[in-house]
Amino acid sequence: MKAYHIVDFTGPSGLTLRDEATPSPGALHVLVRIRASSLNFRDGMILQGAFGPAVAKGIVPLSDGAGEIVAIGDGVTRFKVGDRVMPIFNPHWIGGKRPVDVSPLGLGGETDGTLRDYIVVNEAALVAIPNHLSFEEAASLPCAAVTAWSALVGQQPLYPGEVVVTQGTGGVSIFALQFAKLFGARVISTTSSDEKAERLRALGADATINYRTTPEWDKVVMELTDGRGADLIVEVGGAGTLARSFRSANANSRIAIVGLLAGSAGGEGFDFMSWLASTYRTGTGSRQDFEQMNRAIAFHRLRPVLDRTFPFAEAPAAFEYFNAQKHFGKVIISHE
Ligand SMILES: NC(=O)c1ccc[n+]([C@@H]2O[C@H](COP(=O)([O-])OP(=O)(O)OC[C@H]3O[C@@H](n4cnc5c(N)ncnc54)[C@H](OP(=O)(O)O)[C@@H]3O)[C@@H](O)[C@H]2O)c1
Repeated sequence: MKAYHIVDFTGPSGLTLRDEATPSPGALHVLVRIRASSLNFRDGMILQGAFGPAVAKGIVPLSDGAGEIVAIGDGVTRFKVGDRVMPIFNPHWIGGKRPVDVSPLGLGGETDGTLRDYIVVNEAALVAIPNHLSFEEAASLPCAAVTAWSALVGQQPLYPGEVVVTQGTGGVSIFALQFAKLFGARVISTTSSDEKAERLRALGADATINYRTTPEWDKVVMELTDGRGADLIVEVGGAGTLARSFRSANANSRIAIVGLLAGSAGGEGFDFMSWLASTYRTGTGSRQDFEQMNRAIAFHRLRPVLDRTFPFAEAPAAFEYFNAQKHFGKVIISHE
């Protein structure tokens, strides 16, 4: 089989494609033929060495993939050969809160990931693909979609009519928009361009704000909510957005701290503690979260937004394209 490995932490140029033996599944494990995988922001960071020694050189990148089971080991009961499945982001996180002794890095960080033809996975660390989704669509779910799902409902339920702010048009944010609409929430989405704003509105965003032409987007959120502020802000920007997220909130708002697309430290000199809104740190989510999310996806026949698909042989180009942040939704690698 073929597999990409990170031989140097120099970005996409540090990937190398190798021929290696196809593994076989031991007891309670299955062999999955990966048919598509997808990119998340952190995968680009991993290629750059941003996680330091926590990610070992030589690792197979990418947490997200989808495929079909081609062999099963002894004792496997949850799945059979031919089943269409996705590995969960963190193989040791099945339900509840993430155990403290489990690495947050998951597949493609702590252990070899999905950018290869075959992967052996414990049957407990797989979920079934909703029937209406292609392998490419399914490959977009394990990290970004489960993260968005957890950000919306992980802390407390989202109620119809509540106001959700999403930031940008990356994987997590677009899923957050799609799911927030499933819950009947009102969604205000920020983005860097008017063209992307139009696409966000087509996906159901009730209002959009171009944060380049309107850097004080928090003021617009306040205007749009008659001074009340958003109920839930899915905060993916970090230092570059956090202060404005707090200014878009009220004392009862939730701010789901998800990412650091716009910087990881300091920022705008705001006093974090002087604001009353509660924040909570969300991780990707467990198998239970993934399966709950899939029920909603299947019932509503929700389709992930795929931006562009690259052939497996052009995986480094997929990283280059992804890093340029021109995408709208998910970037996929086809293993066909
Ligand atoms: N905690 C967890 O377990 C977890 C799990 C998944 C992801 N994350 C984190 O969540 C973040 C999003 O990940 P992703 O994979 O969805 O990213 P992605 O697909 O790479 O998102 C890229 C998009 O982010 C938007 N963006 C960039 N700077 C922005 C800013 N200042 N304000 C608003 N939007 C901005 C841009 O969209 P526009 O051009 O439309 O603005 C850009 O196209 C990352 O920091 C990631 O590490 C955390």
